[in-house]
Amino acid sequence: MRRKVILDVDTGHDDAMAILLAAAHQSLDLQAITVTAGNQVLEKTVANTIDVCSLAGISVPIYAGMARPLVREPLVSDFIHGDSGLGSVVFPPAARKAEAEHAVDFLIRACLEADGDLTLIPVAPLSNIAMALLREPNTKRGIKEIILMGGSIGVGNFTPAAEFNIYADPEAAKIVFESGVPITMIGLELTHQAMVSPEVAEEVRMIGTPVAHLVTQLLSDYGEAYRQLMGFSGPPVHDVCAVAYAIDPSLIETTPMRVDIETTPGLCYGRTVCDFYGITGREPNADVALTLDQRRFWPLFVEALRSY
Ligand code: BDR
Ligand code: CA
Repeated sequence: MRRKVILDVDTGHDDAMAILLAAAHQSLDLQAITVTAGNQVLEKTVANTIDVCSLAGISVPIYAGMARPLVREPLVSDFIHGDSGLGSVVFPPAARKAEAEHAVDFLIRACLEADGDLTLIPVAPLSNIAMALLREPNTKRGIKEIILMGGSIGVGNFTPAAEFNIYADPEAAKIVFESGVPITMIGLELTHQAMVSPEVAEEVRMIGTPVAHLVTQLLSDYGEAYRQLMGFSGPPVHDVCAVAYAIDPSLIETTPMRVDIETTPGLCYGRTVCDFYGITGREPNADVALTLDQRRFWPLFVEALRSY
């Protein structure tokens, strides 16, 4: 049985690669892609999503959603993803548009029509998902689970305390984490285990197709940004990890814990406060990712790219 999924993105380098994996793998039935502002403003994240899908021949519907977070001032991650959101990559003029329906309306409709069998994979600020849950509380009846890239048990990557996707819309994250929907949190502890090595980058380059060429360009830009800003040896493909988990949960070891979102202004705004030791005695509300089976993860990624 293929898993019915909707991918929610703010395309970005790693979002682009997550889209390529989600559309390629036969165990996922990718119903649609919803887009929010995040790595860049909405206009650019939508354009990037359309461009990546067009180049790869991915024809699933694309819905534009929230142009800003629920409460906080908007921000972008241009120091990693550049002014376009996809670094220096240049695409031919777009041959298609996003659907006319708003992503939040679509999410509500898709969830109300679903039989409790829909998996949402948000790899972006949680603005679209939170707004759908707020607008129509019955939305959650259609959702089997939410597998999200965001947060961190420990240190942040946008502030010392907070990871970007959560920091970019903490109030939305709070709504999602308190929704009662089963959540798997793929945070930085996990995604920093998924740094592309020169060997993997070379395997991708050798595929030699237009999609492989795109990914090679993305990895080069993105790798340079991470090297300069954070001293990483290779770029971490954060968003790909969430899709990989949806494909094969045995790739990632998780543990249940209570996760609360700090929404009080101050140093820890946007932090995912993870009760790792169960100190509060509160019911866990998320399975938090701990370890990645790298031996099986990289072949999954490269094989998916080979299929284009
Ligand atoms: C997350 O933030 C974005 O820059 C990436 O696309 C990823 O979703 C990592 O913190
Ligand atoms: Ca993202």
